[in-house]
Amino acid sequence: MPRLSADQQQVKVDFLRQVRDGRLDRPTAEGSGLPNLTYTCPDFYRLEQQTVFRNNWVFAGFAHRLARVGDMLPVEIAGQPVVLVKSEDGFIRAFHNACRHRGAQLVTGCRNSKKFVCPNHSWSYSLQGKLIARPHFHGGEQHDINKSDCHRADLVALRCVTWHDWIFVNISGDADDFDACIEPFSAQLEGYDFGALGFCDTLEFDLAANWKLAIENFIEPYHVFSCHPWLNGFVGMEEREAPVFDGKVLSCGYDFKQSDPARGGALPWFPALPAAKQNRGDWFILFPNFGFEIFPDQVDVFVAWPRGPDSCRETIALYFVGDGATAAEYSEARALVMQNWNNLNQEDIGVVERMQRGRNSDGFDGGVLSPYWDPVLQHFARLLADAIEAETIPGS
Ligand code: FES
Ligand SMILES: [Fe+2]
Repeated sequence: MPRLSADQQQVKVDFLRQVRDGRLDRPTAEGSGLPNLTYTCPDFYRLEQQTVFRNNWVFAGFAHRLARVGDMLPVEIAGQPVVLVKSEDGFIRAFHNACRHRGAQLVTGCRNSKKFVCPNHSWSYSLQGKLIARPHFHGGEQHDINKSDCHRADLVALRCVTWHDWIFVNISGDADDFDACIEPFSAQLEGYDFGALGFCDTLEFDLAANWKLAIENFIEPYHVFSCHPWLNGFVGMEEREAPVFDGKVLSCGYDFKQSDPARGGALPWFPALPAAKQNRGDWFILFPNFGFEIFPDQVDVFVAWPRGPDSCRETIALYFVGDGATAAEYSEARALVMQNWNNLNQEDIGVVERMQRGRNSDGFDGGVLSPYWDPVLQHFARLLADAIEAETIPGS
């Protein structure tokens, strides 16, 4: 891991000077949000990758894409190549996706194989990352005859956990236990049988906006009356709760009076759902960029993948309950939910990209926030500032 460049050191100093002016800690009505450079500056983007995304549990992929032993999925986390693999013992593992010999990227596309084989000099590794063979390592036809230092050439494993269908990786190895990070979810998720869920489909969107704007927009419901006519009709502003937060978890929710075909009205529900959950929707963020919503009939994952200071990709993955996920009789109901998510997100993209453009303005630098709806945005900003201040880049 490289040291911070001089430009990154400078941007870190500039950033901390700006946010340690009290804007994130004062009462929201007197405070403000993240400064513009956090959404626009390429050096800040790289700093953020090397700190926030390297030192936290970051969503890496979907377990259903690694269903068979030997399934391999290359991903990028914190700007680094990582490969996920389903090993013979049934566990999904993560490794740095770089050969131990000369650093060639081992896996470049989804595939299934009994072992990793590097195309450069054909070193091979087991699905658990153990070096298997180094052909001609000691000269022509002198293969890997000395096994004593093989362990030096095993693939470098990363911390990796699978929670339901979702795989998280912590590159630095320093993040708190995953279970502790998601503990604030646990009470609100009681009563939902996640084992009843089946994956349905994903939606993908490319945005000309920083990933943080997508996440901030996802968690705050203040924009609903202005941007989402259908959603505002489903639950009006007076019935909406303000977002709350606990550690690295942000959450929001509502009770709805009547279900809609897009939410709870046309597809099977979680089995034995408690009464309090039957007209309820909740949504969550796990810092930094993984979110999901839960309703009586569905769970919808929302991920904002950083692509650059002013671009990101969103993935929305839909899961339904029991037969609702695959049975032909529910195909129209599923299509309606998909269309609804597509419509909602298109409505969001317009304002998210506008917020990005506004961050090139000298007339904006953090904003005047709503004391009712926006404390969660200050908390998100504090999590970001703390992660950057506490950076643990070796040698920095
Ligand atoms: S770089 Fe992979 S075997 Fe040489
Ligand atoms: Fe929205």
